[in-house]
This record gives sequence, structure tokens and C-alpha cells, in this order.
Amino acid sequence: MIAVTTLDEFIIDRQDDFPFATGDLSRLLRDIGFASKIVHREVNMAGLVDITGAYGSENIQGEEQQKLDVFADEVFIKALRHGGEVCGIASEEKDDFIAFENEKSIQGKYVLAMDPLDGSSNIDVNVSIGTIFSIYRRKTEAGTKATMEDFLQPGTEQVAAGYVLYGSSSMLVYTTGSGVNGFTLDPSIGEFCLSHPDMKTSNDGKIFSMNEGNYHLSHKGIQTYLDKCKLEEKTARYIGSLVADFHRNLIKGGVYLYPSTSKARNGKLRLLYECNPLAFIAEQAGGKASDGYTRTMEIEPTELHQRCAYYVGSKNMVDEIEGLLK
Ligand code: AHG
Ligand code: MN
Ligand code: MN
Repeated sequence: MIAVTTLDEFIIDRQDDFPFATGDLSRLLRDIGFASKIVHREVNMAGLVDITGAYGSENIQGEEQQKLDVFADEVFIKALRHGGEVCGIASEEKDDFIAFENEKSIQGKYVLAMDPLDGSSNIDVNVSIGTIFSIYRRKTEAGTKATMEDFLQPGTEQVAAGYVLYGSSSMLVYTTGSGVNGFTLDPSIGEFCLSHPDMKTSNDGKIFSMNEGNYHLSHKGIQTYLDKCKLEEKTARYIGSLVADFHRNLIKGGVYLYPSTSKARNGKLRLLYECNPLAFIAEQAGGKASDGYTRTMEIEPTELHQRCAYYVGSKNMVDEIEGLLK
């Protein structure tokens, strides 16, 4: 028997990190781990079962939903409704948030915001995709239905956040505000095992990641930054799945950019489902996240599907971008 720490063991061991913890957050994190194993199983069957391709509808953001977007959304919602620790969920795939009304969930202390399937355009071509989640303590009284107020909290209020990467192996990475830990799924035993304890990112990196098709639509400062990266012979890497690009840069050092453009004033990425959770992880690993002017986690959200420009990764690289945007 080899000594491995499973995700479930780790979560229970760390429960004492939270004063007055009752175990609800631990159970919630375990539910997320469980749901992600089901999505992992389905992702790995893509091509064999009828799960690739378009679902035949658009989400609120006018993006074509893929079958796996809808599947992952349903798996997480079902698992979390059953778990009863969250009283509501806001999902990138749903027009409005869901407020659970069943007896157990309405007592739930937390709300969750998620991008159930990130990198949709990569599903059908066997490229890494992910899930991103963000957990807040509810603002409203337990026993009542969740309201918008519970979801429109700045990222600084997150109690936990994380992502699952369905890649060459599947990983779950999360933080509860005391460091970042990564777990790799061992499919033979069906367990996430601690493989990346206390993840840290470097202050500087070699990698820059941006969809350079947007070069001419971007602010002069961003163009200058990209030109500079090339003069300095940095490495360009862009997968088009935020989770995968973020994860690589976190480990190797680098910066991910999704700027505002002349066509999309607030960029593309969503504050609640994508930017805040990964900002929390980045900061906990020693990195930085910003919209170019303001720390991402301090942006006051005014709507669920709010978008914002996003620069995340190694601290000095994000600092340099901020300097060029001034
Ligand atoms: P989603 O699949 O959840 O809609 O997110 C797609 C996002 C993100 O994952 C990725 O980095 C970015 O969109 C890619 O955008 P471009 O195709 O404009 O580069
Ligand atoms: Mn996404
Ligand atoms: Mn998505």
C-alpha cells in the first residue's frame, strides 16, 4: 500500500483551518469532487458516446451550447442540490440563478457560482477543458430562498474556489484561502490524490497567453506588451481553454491576457464564473489578477453574467501590463 492522501482525507484534515467549521464546506468540496468525476467519465467517452457537438440552443450570452456544457451543468446542479450545503447556484449556462427550495438546501450556508464546462470549443477536438467554481457565504438568512444579493459579492468574499482540468490527466485544484493544493485523479481507484501540495507560482514567467487574433482590436498598451514579449523571446502558448492556459502558467510561470477590445468593451470572460475564482487561486499561489486597473477580486459585481478584462498570472508580468495601460 502506497501512502497517498486522497482529496476526501485532505479536506477533512483541513477542516480545522476554519474556526467554528461545522463540516458543511468540507462536504460541499467533496460533492464537487464527486460531480467532477462524473464529468471526467463522460469527457473521456467523447467520440464514443453521443456527447459531442451542439445541443441545439444558445445560452444567455448568445453562445451555442454544446451537449457537454448542458451535461456538466446538470451533473453539478444535481449533486449540489442533493448535497444540501448550498442554497443556490449561478451558472454560466443558466439565464438566472437557481434558488433551491427543498428542505435541506434552503438551510444551506453557501452559494456557488460556476462555469460548468470551460473551453467548449475544444470539446470536439480532444483538447483539455475544465470546470471552474466559486463559493460564497450567503448574505440572506438560512431558511429563506437565495436572492441576487447572495451572488453579487466581490471576489474578496470568496470562502473557496477551484477548478477541475480534464486533460492528459484530470486534476482538481482548490483554495480555501490558506494556500493552493492540487489533486490528480487516479482513474483506477476513482480518487483524486494529492499530487501538487502548496502550489506556488513564480513572480516572473516566460509564457504569454493571448488570442492574438485580437491584437489590432486591443489597447495600444497591450500591443506594446505583446511586442515586448516577442523582442524578449518569451514563449507564446494559447489553448483557448482558460482553465488549461491558467493551469500551465500557474505551474510554469506566465501571464494570461483577455483584454477589452474595440468589439467587446468588457472583454469576454465572466467575472463571477471565471475571473474571480481563478484570481483567488492565483493570489493564493503568489500571483496576481487584475482588469488592468483594478484588482479583479475588488470589482463590485452588478450583474450575474458581468464580463471584465482579465490579466492573470505571474505578479511582475501583470504589474507590467497595468503600467502600460495607464
Ligand atoms: P467557455 O467555453 O466557458 O464559454 O469559455 C471560453 C473562454 C475561455 O475558456 C477561453 O480562454 C476563451 O473563451 C477563448 O476565447 P477566444 O476564442 O476568443 O480566444
Ligand atoms: Mn469559460
Ligand atoms: Mn463554459
